[in-house]
Formats: sequence, structure tokens, C-alpha cells
Amino acid sequence: MDASTSKVLLTGPTGFIGGRLLYALDEAGHEVRCLVRLSEELVIKRPLERDPEVVYADLLEPDTLPQAMEGMDAAYYLVHSMGGRSIAETKAFAERDRKCAQNFLKAADDAGMQRIIYLGGLGETGDKLSKHLASRQEVADILQSGRLKTTALRAAVIIGAGGASFELTRYLVERLPVMMCPRWINTRSQPIDVSDVISYLVGCLHEPATAGLTFDIGGPDIISYREMMTLYARVRGLHRFIFTVPVLTPRLSAYWINLMTPVPAGIVFPLVEGLKNEVICRENRIRDFLPIDLTTMQDAICTALAETEKGPGQLPSRQACFLH
Ligand SMILES: NC(=O)c1ccc[n+]([C@@H]2O[C@H](COP(=O)([O-])OP(=O)(O)OC[C@H]3O[C@@H](n4cnc5c(N)ncnc54)[C@H](OP(=O)(O)O)[C@@H]3O)[C@@H](O)[C@H]2O)c1
Repeated sequence: MDASTSKVLLTGPTGFIGGRLLYALDEAGHEVRCLVRLSEELVIKRPLERDPEVVYADLLEPDTLPQAMEGMDAAYYLVHSMGGRSIAETKAFAERDRKCAQNFLKAADDAGMQRIIYLGGLGETGDKLSKHLASRQEVADILQSGRLKTTALRAAVIIGAGGASFELTRYLVERLPVMMCPRWINTRSQPIDVSDVISYLVGCLHEPATAGLTFDIGGPDIISYREMMTLYARVRGLHRFIFTVPVLTPRLSAYWINLMTPVPAGIVFPLVEGLKNEVICRENRIRDFLPIDLTTMQDAICTALAETEKGPGQLPSRQACFLH
């Protein structure tokens, strides 16, 4: 397979990452087929070089998958089930994600696909991982258990307009001059700018030596959630007072965050539970294959804010609805 001309199946094209990757793959000259859930519509917000093919399929409906896979060389797996459309769906996100990954791998294997590239989450298994981070790792394990080669990228918070974690930070700092926070705000993380994530995702497709490997990806700054909120406030010229309160449980803070932000409860609860886990790269092997210039956290916040100002209509993903 010539990686630079391969035909690519893109899952999650209505999402935060997939919506941006579509443009990058188009710019890189790929023929892209977008897998869109049966009930959704793909809205293209900026002109593309080539109109992508759109197939309607649902990873939970195995019968819909063979037509999506047919003739494709590689696939991006950018799907998760948090924030379900009902309480039952929301509670069962890990089970749904397990089924999605199993169905996808089987269909890709059957179709003779050569590569999958998956973007999941950082976090160590021995570290009392949250349900969300453990589920992201389980999906990586499933996708890497097949005959074809799956590259798994592991990221912490991704900074970009419309991204769930960034929007949580933005709303909290914008709306609350004084914040009473639980101890987890001192947990350290290694955020990464969304454009760097997109460069790694495209780069992995173009670099065959990355096939089948797992890479931690992170930006140049390792900072606590408290420092992240303080940096955001500084960039915006806001004065904010952040105190830690020992009695605030993750569940209680999730209720509070849910009240203060438009991000759906089905996403807030699993994300907040995961904030107790330190998410820092264990290794930087990806830099040997793809030595891109990484964006500082401050520049990433500035870019995300500039994009936010353009309004939801200009953002590539459905998650732009988080912007009011
Ligand atoms: N955002 C971050 O800060 C971050 C950080 C680290 C890792 N990641 C990883 O990046 C990947 C993409 O995340 P994201 O932030 O782009 O998520 P997102 O914006 O919520 O998008 C999720 C996508 O999955 C699709 N989907 C869900 N269930 C599906 C199903 N059964 N069949 C087909 N499509 C389905 C959704 O389609 P609908 O539009 O139909 O719902 C949507 O396009 C995930 O693996 C996530 O763990 C994200």
C-alpha cells in the first residue's frame, strides 16, 4: 500500500477530532469515506478539494459495517459512546464501546483492511483508572488484538474549540470569579493542541513504521488542572481565585460543573471521575518517527479562543454546539 494515496475510512467525522481530521486528510490528497451514524447528517462547513463519500452505518449494528469497509486500505477509529442519548445509554458507555470496537475490528478484518489508527486516552492501568480511561484502554486492546495492524495514540486533554475538556475549562473560568475546587485540581496532565494531534494522526498514516505500535502523545507543558485554569485566566486577562476544599467529592463537583456548563452530563461525569488520574506521557517514542514542532499550552489556548470567537457555525464538528 502506498500510504500517501491510500483510501481512508473516517469514523467520527461529526466529532471534535474527526471533523478536523477530514480537512487534513483531504489536504493530504486522500480519498476519504466518512462513516456517519444512521440518524446523523454530515455537515461540511468549509469547501474540500474532493467531496468525501458518506456511508451510513452504526458501529453497534454489525450488518451495516461491510459496505463501509469495502475497498478501504486504512481506517481511523475516533468513536466513543459517552454522553449517550438516554440515561441507560450513558451508564452503559463502556459496554457499548467494547461492542463498537469488537464489531469494527471484525468487519475490518473480514474486509482485508490493512491498518487502523485509534486515538484513545493516557493513564496507567495499575493506577485505579477511571471507568472512562479504562474503557479507552480496553478499546485499544481490542483493536490491537486482530490480524491487521492498529496504531494506538494515547492523549490527555486536547485543547481546541468545541473539545469537551477545553470547553469545561473555558466555561468554568469565564463564569466563576471564585472557584471552590476539589483536590483533584492539583493532578498533573500533559495537554496537547488539537492541530498537533491531527498532525500525528495524519503522520502515522504516512509513516508505515508506526503500524501496530502504541504511542503516548502530549504537548511541551506538564501542568496541573489548577495551573491550566490559571493560565486560561491569564490569557483572557481575568482575575480568578481558586481554593481547594477537601470534602468536595468528584461526583459533587461533576453535578456542579454540569450546572455551570452546557457540556452534557453524560460526558461531564466520566471526564470528572478521570481527573484524579495523572495523565502524563510515559515515553516520547513518537518523536523519533514524527518530530513535529509542538504547540505550547498558552498558544493552544489563544488559538482555541480565536476559533471560539468565530462562532459555532465555523467549527467543523457537531460539538460546536457546546459554544453558546
Ligand atoms: N476530546 C478530547 O479532549 C480527547 C482527549 C483524548 C482522547 N480523545 C479521543 O479522541 C477520540 C475522538 O474523540 P472526540 O473528542 O472527537 O469525540 P466526539 O466529538 O464526542 O465524537 C465522537 C464521535 O463518535 C461517533 N459515534 C459514537 N458512537 C457511534 C456509533 N455507535 N457508530 C458510529 N459512530 C459513533 C459520534 O457520532 P454522532 O455524531 O452520531 O454522535 C461522533 O462523531 C476518542 O477516542 C477519544 O477518547 C479525545
